[in-house]
Amino acid sequence: MKQRENFGSKLGIIMATAGSALGLGNIYRFPVEAGNNGGGAFLIVYIAVALLIGTPLMISEFIIGRRSRSNPIGAFRTIAGRRTPFTLVGWGGVLSAFLILAFYTTVAGWTLGYLGKSLLNHFDGQDLPQIQAQFTAFVDHPWLPIACQLAFLAMTAFVVLRGVAKGIERWSKILMPLLLVIMLVLCIKSLTLPGASEGMRFLFHPDFSKITGKVLISALGQSFFSLSIGMGALITYGSYIAKNDNMVSSAVSVVFADTLVAVLAGIVIFPAAFSFGIKPEAGASLAFTTLPMVFQQMHGGYLFCLLFFLLLVIATLTSTISLLEVIVAALTEEFHLTRGKAAWLGAAVTAVIGILATISMRSSNPLSIGGTSVFDILDHATALYLMPLGGLFIVLFVGWYMKKTDTMAELTNEGTLRSGIRKAILLVIRYLCPLAIAVIFISQLIK
Ligand code: PFF
Repeated sequence: MKQRENFGSKLGIIMATAGSALGLGNIYRFPVEAGNNGGGAFLIVYIAVALLIGTPLMISEFIIGRRSRSNPIGAFRTIAGRRTPFTLVGWGGVLSAFLILAFYTTVAGWTLGYLGKSLLNHFDGQDLPQIQAQFTAFVDHPWLPIACQLAFLAMTAFVVLRGVAKGIERWSKILMPLLLVIMLVLCIKSLTLPGASEGMRFLFHPDFSKITGKVLISALGQSFFSLSIGMGALITYGSYIAKNDNMVSSAVSVVFADTLVAVLAGIVIFPAAFSFGIKPEAGASLAFTTLPMVFQQMHGGYLFCLLFFLLLVIATLTSTISLLEVIVAALTEEFHLTRGKAAWLGAAVTAVIGILATISMRSSNPLSIGGTSVFDILDHATALYLMPLGGLFIVLFVGWYMKKTDTMAELTNEGTLRSGIRKAILLVIRYLCPLAIAVIFISQLIK
């Protein structure tokens, strides 16, 4: 059998997985979701879901990946044997990766465009209506957002085709610490704006009456999206984890870092938005309108704006890398394409759907079905349906289908790690996770 690549070190695993997890989900999508779902109430539910469902699910994906040493499709087949419906979960994961990458690169393209805009000082001396008009003009431009999206896809393919250790791991190790430093600097800036405390109150003072079914499913979808779980990305990364790595502690570190960056993004964005009189429900404009506006009015704003969009590009790139890696692992192992061919083919097919998503974001609202844009359809189909369903089957597979001795062998590294806490984790995987995901998911369907 061909020797598969591994991540070179424990730090490499954490950085690459954190690289996948940290992205537009934290910095762009989390503030939008929190803004639409009551701020503090959403944050509390989100943290509970990330801890109680997200972490065990991430560990479950690592277990499947490392046990099978395979892409998501091959993974279920390797462990369960050829003819089980679980292989469909693997196919569903690869499909999710395609669909997410398609709409994700729409906003990824915007981040690249906005990095260019901040470099060229396009926001200098502009007021809010002018900056809002710039955003609309950019999104409505006939080819610019598409060109940015394609450039982003090409960058992603370029890293992925270099392989696991040389490409993904090396880049993540450099980019992730940089991301945290830039975030912290931006937090301090945002907190010193006049009226910042109102934004902090919005994020940290939960109004418990706001916790509804919609908040629950939104938090579930957001945590799956943000942690890159429920679709096999972390089965793929799990397949590169070395046999002696403590995957429980790796997962806990990643969930902690991911939640921290989402909260930091909230601390950057909400105080700035409130200080400027922008509604927290402002959606896309939270990141692309409010912040450039605030930055260019601040001392050193040119630099901070540049840093912010550099940060967005970095965080986004390490996530698109992991999405394309799911597709590439499947194409190379299931269809025997070379890594280079698989990377370019994956990027090209994604581009076709991705361009439709990008066009659907124009203000004239073309390419929408029943009033919902292609972009939102892809977002909702994955975060609210495919990922929770994938997650449900993954915990059922690990908790009930796999032999308990195999699961415990993975969790304890063949008995070399203490088993007490790991037995408790297995109980959570068997009972709490499937029940909670099923209840939240079904209650949404009934509504
Ligand atoms: N977790 C990424 C984010 O928060 O931006 C998005 C993502 C990446 C989802 C990779 C799924 C995935 F496989």
